[in-house]
Amino acid sequence: MTTTAPSASRAAEILSRPVTLNGLTVPNRIAMAPMTRMFSPGGVPGEDVASYYSRRAAAGVGLIVTEGTYVGHESAGQSDRVPRFHGGEQLAGWAKVAEAVHAAGGTIVPQLWHVGMVREQGEPPYADAPAVGPSGLRLDGTEGTGRAMTRSDLDDVIGAFAAAAADAERIGFDGVELHGAHGYLLDQFLWAGTNRRTDAYGGDPVARAKFAAEIVAAVREAVSAEFPVIFRYSQWKLDAYEARLAGTPEELEAILAPLAAAGVDAFHASTRRYWLPEFDGSDLNLAGWTKKLTGRPTLTVGSVGLDGDFVRAFAGEGAAVGSIDNLLDRLERDEFDLVAVGRALLQDPEWAAKVLEGRFTDLAPYDVASLKTLS
Ligand SMILES: Cc1cc2nc3c(=O)[nH]c(=O)nc-3n(C[C@H](O)[C@H](O)[C@H](O)COP(=O)(O)O)c2cc1C
Repeated sequence: MTTTAPSASRAAEILSRPVTLNGLTVPNRIAMAPMTRMFSPGGVPGEDVASYYSRRAAAGVGLIVTEGTYVGHESAGQSDRVPRFHGGEQLAGWAKVAEAVHAAGGTIVPQLWHVGMVREQGEPPYADAPAVGPSGLRLDGTEGTGRAMTRSDLDDVIGAFAAAAADAERIGFDGVELHGAHGYLLDQFLWAGTNRRTDAYGGDPVARAKFAAEIVAAVREAVSAEFPVIFRYSQWKLDAYEARLAGTPEELEAILAPLAAAGVDAFHASTRRYWLPEFDGSDLNLAGWTKKLTGRPTLTVGSVGLDGDFVRAFAGEGAAVGSIDNLLDRLERDEFDLVAVGRALLQDPEWAAKVLEGRFTDLAPYDVASLKTLS
């Protein structure tokens, strides 16, 4: 790790390098992390959503990963204000979002989402649908109000992800991201804490990855060979930040290898602080390990630009964990390929432009009030 503050030109030079994910060239290394905003009544993303994303693309974000958007399965979601990725009006709204982002010079993928057993109470149009998951368990291990998935449930959900991916390509998106993180449906299968199945979809890490791998394969089949498929996963879960999918690199490899073999083009390794080493004996973070184990490009994420040290380092006050130096060093040695930015980009739509142009002292600290509006 370097100990001097980076020059603006070093940040610009490293972050401005294009990167290829299968058939997609992303113009730079800055991605917007997926963030649920609940500004899409009836599941329809409107013009305000299109300008929210295109404003950030115009200001230098190379790849936008949209907020999670429900696939077409009756139990996929729980809020009528979260955008859906099925239905005529909903997809027409999404097509306009993609068009606006392209017009602004960016690239965009929808994050396809099924919440699984996290669904406690539905809202229209599927208020009465049951929650479903691998074993009918909530994340805390208690019996939920829903049920363990049957063979036909599995097939329906696989079909819903494949249909959404085909629609994404048809209406002009640049790829898809499958939400396999944070304790939602796909992660409920990956994680032993919620997957107690005794059939082929439960047991060791390879068996627990089978459902997600079948979804990846079906998605791959539904889209062109060059259309990028990104898989987001995490160790941590909602309300369980210390939970872990894999305690060793070997366990992690057992989970990721079937996903890579099924056709994942890039992994998005979700961590809360990107600078933390994932396993003992190496300072690689989760994205770094993922790249090393699978050979696929990866996105890192977690508190980029939030720590006060990030900004202070820009101002020449030296490097620290979580500083821009640390991030640039890791990018430069190819530990990972893209950097996803969440809250800092909510706070400031111009965050990427300011960083790329070296306007570091204009960066504003994060204020939670930015969650209230879609500006
Ligand atoms: C308001 C909000 C909504 C989020 N919604 C999602 C989501 O829909 N899908 C997802 O994978 N992660 C979601 N996340 C997690 C972010 O993608 C990201 O991983 C996290 O905020 C850490 O990045 P940051 O420190 O740069 O904010 C959300 C985070 C926030 C703050």
